[in-house]
Amino acid sequence: MGLFITIEGPEGSGKTTILELVAQHLALTHDVVTTREPGGVQTAEAIRNILLEGEAVDARTEVLLFAAARREHLVEKVMPALASHKVVLCDRFVDSSLAYQGYARHIGVEDVQMINDFAIEGYYPDMTIYLDIPAALGRERIQANQRVQNRLDKESYAFHERVIGGYRQLIAKHPERYTVIDASRSVEDVTADVIAAIQQKLAQKSLEK
Ligand code: TMP
Repeated sequence: MGLFITIEGPEGSGKTTILELVAQHLALTHDVVTTREPGGVQTAEAIRNILLEGEAVDARTEVLLFAAARREHLVEKVMPALASHKVVLCDRFVDSSLAYQGYARHIGVEDVQMINDFAIEGYYPDMTIYLDIPAALGRERIQANQRVQNRLDKESYAFHERVIGGYRQLIAKHPERYTVIDASRSVEDVTADVIAAIQQKLAQKSLEK
């Protein structure tokens, strides 16, 4: 089996940029697949479009749609890549649903966990990197950045504070599952720390090209 790594963080944590830089570096020595949630395969990208660009949906429908997109992406893309011994770097996974829908949307973390357990059948990541930033810095970065905002980006500041609070509760409950990296520093420093953490994990497995 390959190595399944997920990268998590609130809006403005620099997740997507850092994932790209980390992937370029790891690709020199490993077979790397980069992907994202919701999305990564055609059906899941269509669900992403409904979730992020469409009309607001009921909060439970939102949980189910994220889980449906997750299932399809896992089966079509992640499982085959892991079976062919690749390193999979995935931008968001179940922890996003726990933080955004479970905590910030007030659905309840246990219910969101249950729906996701059904969707992923035990395919938990080998490693989850959390890019840690204070909510105020995240907001500052989003405002400075020209990226078009999706439906969830446009949620209130209080919502994004609850997302961060949710992630921190998950980390406090299961510290062994997360590698927490201070993402308030420069992209170069954060990228270097993420690469070092992944290389340590890779050293335990022998997946070199
Ligand atoms: P992003 O990939 O640009 O971060 O956009 C995805 C958005 O969807 C982001 O606002 C977080 C949100 N999201 C959830 O609310 N729940 C989930 O399970 C996932 C994967 C993403």
